Amino acid sequence: MLIKTKKDIPSSEITPESVYRNRRQFLKDSANIAFGAATGSVLAGPVSAQTGDALFARAPVDINLASKPEWLVEKAANRTDAPATGPYNTDEELTPFSDVTTYNNFYEFGTGKGDPSSNASEFRIEPWTVEVAGECAKPGIYALEDILRPHTFEERIYRMRCVEAWSMVVPWIGFSLGDLLKRFEPNGNANFVAFETLVDRGQMPAQRSRFATIDWPYQEGLRMDEAMHPLTIMATGLYDDILPAQNGAPLRLVVPWKYGFKNIKSIVKIEFTRSMPNNTWNDLQPSEYGFYANVNPEVSHPRWSQATERRLPSSLFMPRRIETKMFNGYADEVASLYAGMDLRRNY
Ligand code: MTE
Repeated sequence: MLIKTKKDIPSSEITPESVYRNRRQFLKDSANIAFGAATGSVLAGPVSAQTGDALFARAPVDINLASKPEWLVEKAANRTDAPATGPYNTDEELTPFSDVTTYNNFYEFGTGKGDPSSNASEFRIEPWTVEVAGECAKPGIYALEDILRPHTFEERIYRMRCVEAWSMVVPWIGFSLGDLLKRFEPNGNANFVAFETLVDRGQMPAQRSRFATIDWPYQEGLRMDEAMHPLTIMATGLYDDILPAQNGAPLRLVVPWKYGFKNIKSIVKIEFTRSMPNNTWNDLQPSEYGFYANVNPEVSHPRWSQATERRLPSSLFMPRRIETKMFNGYADEVASLYAGMDLRRNY
């Protein structure tokens, strides 16, 4: 079994995000020139001196997994690329790996942005099962490998806009949620699909805290047409590798036109329901967080405007504030899902 944590990666390996996009092309080119064994070493890990400053290595950020299932690492490595043009890709600058993996919301590990990467050490994703329940022909408890095996993974580069008004651009690895859901044969009563995160007080410190405000498990849900939309993915990795614990290993939802809190992490249950399921932030503060949570610059949060966002990495001196787009820039693809709905009431 391949067990590799960030502790094994030399600190000389520096984040390559500025060249990440060119990586595939570079690898193709280098296969054609007399690059010799160095090509193999680029693919396999530590970069040969011939390539300069460890161009394609990753940042020394701990991905916090007790072990990495070999079959999953291999599936992530064998992913395909999304078409270069169209909504599954963007030429906006990627958020560096180090920010994507250290600036997180994962309240099970604490409420600070750095808490998930600090507190999720040695998170166990082996064994992992997903319970499928509710209005479908094939309910059951499925091993992670059975859930993922039939799907080819694809890289999708999506914007992610948090309701807190910051945003990132993330190269996810994942596959269509709709393709997964179809396998369980939802019936005519399946109007919604609900998701739950792992509850494991031993591993998730905030779940054993007496001061936690969330009633665990973290829950989310989608209308069936939202869940079946081709933009909606079950993510299993980012930046060329499987998901770090802090980003929701081993599988999490990514719905790019909605606020980030819909993107539930570390999923252990999927349930087809007749009526609209609970979602954690709506339960906590219904006047501030709705079920739909579509990114909408025209509808302010009661305590702040949603007209603009901070594109990470940002700082006091480099705020990188940009205008927020309707449906996070995916309006052409998804606006029709909400035709006739009052988006001020259905926030
Ligand atoms: N999923 C669980 N289980 N617990 C959480 O606290 N936070 C949500 C979402 N999924 C959260 C979660 C919020 S508020 C956001 S913005 C995104 O995860 C953040 O994802 P990221 O940390 O990968 O950027």
